[in-house]
Amino acid sequence: MENKIINLGIFGFGVVGQGLYEVLNRTKGINARIKKICIKDPNKSRPIDSSYFTTDKNEILEDPTIDVVVELINDTEAAFEIVSTALRNGKAVVSASKRMIAENLPALYQLQAENKVPFLYEASSCASIPIIRNLEEYYDNDLLNAVEGICNGSTNYILTKIFEENLSFATALQQAQDLGFAETDPTLDIEGYDPKFKIVILLLHAFGTFVKPEEVFNFGIHHLNDFDIQFARQRNCTVKLIAQCRRQNGSVSAYVLPHLIREHNLLYDVYNEYNGILLESAFTDKQFFVGKGAGGTATGSAVLSDISALLYNYRYEYKKIKQNNQPSFTNDVKLKIYLRYKTPDQVDLAEFFNISEKYESSEWRYVVGTINLQKLREAGWLKNKDVNILVLE
Ligand code: HSE
Repeated sequence: MENKIINLGIFGFGVVGQGLYEVLNRTKGINARIKKICIKDPNKSRPIDSSYFTTDKNEILEDPTIDVVVELINDTEAAFEIVSTALRNGKAVVSASKRMIAENLPALYQLQAENKVPFLYEASSCASIPIIRNLEEYYDNDLLNAVEGICNGSTNYILTKIFEENLSFATALQQAQDLGFAETDPTLDIEGYDPKFKIVILLLHAFGTFVKPEEVFNFGIHHLNDFDIQFARQRNCTVKLIAQCRRQNGSVSAYVLPHLIREHNLLYDVYNEYNGILLESAFTDKQFFVGKGAGGTATGSAVLSDISALLYNYRYEYKKIKQNNQPSFTNDVKLKIYLRYKTPDQVDLAEFFNISEKYESSEWRYVVGTINLQKLREAGWLKNKDVNILVLE
């Protein structure tokens, strides 16, 4: 596609679509222009000329002059349909839909191979941090041991406001919604689903292993209470929602869980909607990537970066899948956790390998101990709002 102007057909004009429009307009010298934007509701008032818009997806998918389809909609099924049709029609595709991508990675991998067209999705994971391309291009499978970090801007914003400004959870969540960081359904953020989709994508690019989102345990910050906040503060710690995938003994494990983070940890100083990713590899120890993880222009700039990469015929090579020595997925790993509850009948302490600390008061109780991730995943008791967990470093 070198030296030509590429015509873009965009699906969706929400926070990210508008962010892309703004970034595109302010970037001089980019050889790309918007030809059409497909939207659902033609009656909504929009800040740009109505001639851009259509409600007919085929005006983009069937237009031979459109080179690149940019998929930025909320509806997972419709997004998959759009992306697969575009790939089958021989169009390059850029997407930011983490859920759709995470749930359909094997099919999307296949579609790219069959149709010999690129599909790029840097904006889907950690927005402005170029993590997928780094995992693809720089890190050799055998050397990388772990990808760990903050992959959700909304929950990091909420936790920052709680710990740094003493805001209530509800007020901080409202702000994250008003600023366009949160998902339309914010439980996806606060219960840890959104970062789970992202870690499933990162895991594939880090280790070459396809994992279904439902195999990965996620527990968010929705049960965090004042007692937990005080517990963290007394230990000079903060709380961050951490997504992790880690290779050990030929297998790879993954989860999304709230962690107690000490001041010396690089993730401690990742605030507001910023995301931070720590990579651990055999000879370099830790490397740290940080950047805005949510918001229109931060995400739009990652989409634009993918569009310009297409101008140079960039595509993911998925070398680690092709090498065929990828680790298998496991939930059989031990975690040291703080478990807070109200009454003994609410939890099953027999599931712990060991307990090193126990606390009881008239209101709350907690234990610190080691438990298997698979047991946590199966634990019905975590559904009780009186029960919360934090992973200890
Ligand atoms: N709701 C997401 C977040 C948006 O807060 O990180 C960016 O993927």
